[in-house]
Amino acid sequence: NIVTAIVLAAGQGKRMNTPVAKQFLCLRDKPVIYYSLKAFEESCVDRIILVTGKEQVEYCREHIVDQYHFKKVTQVIEGGKERYDSVWQALRHAETSDYVLIHDGARPFIQSKLIDTIIEKVIEYKACVVGTHVKETVKVVDKQGYIIDTPDRDTLWSAQTPQAFEYNTLIKAYTEFYMGNQKDELGITDDAMVFARYAKLPIKMIEGDYSNLKLTTLEDLTLAEVILSRLLCE
Ligand code: CTP
Ligand code: MG
Repeated sequence: NIVTAIVLAAGQGKRMNTPVAKQFLCLRDKPVIYYSLKAFEESCVDRIILVTGKEQVEYCREHIVDQYHFKKVTQVIEGGKERYDSVWQALRHAETSDYVLIHDGARPFIQSKLIDTIIEKVIEYKACVVGTHVKETVKVVDKQGYIIDTPDRDTLWSAQTPQAFEYNTLIKAYTEFYMGNQKDELGITDDAMVFARYAKLPIKMIEGDYSNLKLTTLEDLTLAEVILSRLLCE
């Protein structure tokens, strides 16, 4: 079985709004993307495709992949405008994979052990997503700002990454989605949405880790320092 990890780092980090895109900010003098790649390097995946912005491809090859000796990173490719454009580019470079794990490069605290669990699970279930039970009560709010529903919390999870799929099934689903004419209107925010909509097969939720935070807004950086200190002590 050939298992390919796709690590996404082609976003602009608009909600973080720092001069340097969040995936290249430093945590303890290493860039965020270093930590994500290291976890995959030390996992059982066979190879890693790193997706980044056109202007960062050379920087990533020299200052990330070569500098930190990430031997499993076989390709550094240019992403696209939306997250799904970046995923699409990577999937087209991942032929000959049996399974793909798609990961947000902005989640630096993913652990190799969890990646290896996901590999086992995707072989068993064909599609799976890492997530956590929500801790708060979630409300559905209408456009006027009034609460209209409170879904049963026991059924609610936050979806994280990695999200892992059988390659052939995912590329088929993605092709249908990507070639369709409504891709911008569907509000696709993760790969499981594409898989559910076009492959119409079950997707297993795998309980992950609250520390697998996605750096999104400025306050996440403070949290990131705390999580990193704890991980380095372990
Ligand atoms: N991503 C990507 N290509 C894009 C958009 C996002 O590779 N066109 C990546 C980001 O680099 C990140 C992951 O997808 O690692 C999750 O996306 P998100 O947290 O939304 O990051 P950004 O899009 O960069 O942030 P924002 O939405 O605030 O602009
Ligand atoms: Mg985004």
